[in-house]
Amino acid sequence: MSDTICASFNTSVAVHRPDATSQKSNSTLRVALLVNLARNAPPIQRTIMPPDLFVELDSDRNVEAYAQALEEEGHEVLVHEGDAYLAQWITQIKPDICFNTCEGFLGNSREAQVPALLEMIGARYTGPTPLAAAITQDKPTTKRILQSYRLPTPPFQVFETPDEELSPELSFPLFVKPIHEGTGMGIHNESIVYNERQLRDRVAWLITAYDQPALIEPFIDGQDLTCGLVGNGRDVHFFPINEVDYSGYPSELCHIYGSLQKVDFEQYYRNRCPAPISKKLAEDIRKLTHQTFLATQCRDFARVDFRLDKKEQLHILEINALPGIGVHSDLTLMAAAEGWTHGELVRAVLHAALRRYQML
Ligand SMILES: Nc1ncnc2c1ncn2[C@@H]1O[C@H](COP(=O)(O)OP(=O)(O)OP(=O)(O)O)[C@@H](O)[C@H]1O
Ligand SMILES: [Mg+2]
Repeated sequence: MSDTICASFNTSVAVHRPDATSQKSNSTLRVALLVNLARNAPPIQRTIMPPDLFVELDSDRNVEAYAQALEEEGHEVLVHEGDAYLAQWITQIKPDICFNTCEGFLGNSREAQVPALLEMIGARYTGPTPLAAAITQDKPTTKRILQSYRLPTPPFQVFETPDEELSPELSFPLFVKPIHEGTGMGIHNESIVYNERQLRDRVAWLITAYDQPALIEPFIDGQDLTCGLVGNGRDVHFFPINEVDYSGYPSELCHIYGSLQKVDFEQYYRNRCPAPISKKLAEDIRKLTHQTFLATQCRDFARVDFRLDKKEQLHILEINALPGIGVHSDLTLMAAAEGWTHGELVRAVLHAALRRYQML
């Protein structure tokens, strides 16, 4: 079955690069901009409170930038927190479309909550459906889907408790991370484990701190590459592939892209975009990105993260169905590498959704 589905993918995806500046929608729309601000995060009580618990959430600065991008095109923009009162507000203001940036506060499928509310009241919106959001927020489920399509993702095991028997397929060094998080949450030097004791300690800490199972994979020594796209189906535009350059970070930090690197030491971030890789490797990455996007039923935009090992083998780590598009996000930097402004990126996501709804 997996072969049949795999064959249905277009394996020679044309890299379609629309001119972002020419993508004007014809009429002014009422756009509901839906956000989850870090300052609105609810209080949480846990035995261990990891400092990176709410790093995914947005700042006022990003929200102003999204609104400005949409207003620059003449749209009327109304902003609302993606909370439990959202459905009532949407029903009152009757937007033409919602621009959804909500990462959610609580729950294992939190990125699916706002899309589910919007589906319930029949509102149009940008980004993933509840199904795609829930699939992609669960790394093991995503990986099982990728495996069924024979797409290269590392072998893995899920630990519900710290004392489960390690699969004989997995050997040290291993990598331990939460199954439901993003923005490098729970990913630090100690995620790389070299023996049973380190593995058990890390899994125990992670289960308690993040209140969820741990995902164990082989530690892939190599480079971090990421590939982003906007569009739908075969009509997608790939941004230049990005490579994280670890040379700017404090030397005690391992070369992994965790929350310390992404958030606390953001000022030391360096990258190479486009990544200095061969045309063939870049084409393979775009193809795998597109296949992952289709297999997980994403919409409008996404970013797929890879590790490239020392033997030049690609490993798909995950897909971000609702990638950050804040002013300093990876996708924003990748779009900037080919001359797009932040506003053009935001509008390209809106246009992808409008085209999907045949409104453009
Ligand atoms: N199996 C692995 N081997 C080596 N490094 C890994 C592995 N899995 C993850 N990493 C490192 O951790 C980083 C974050 O992993 P991953 O992308 O799975 O987490 P995330 O928190 O969902 O990321 P994002 O910030 O993109 O949402 C990777 O970019 C990579 O540097
Ligand atoms: Mg990632």
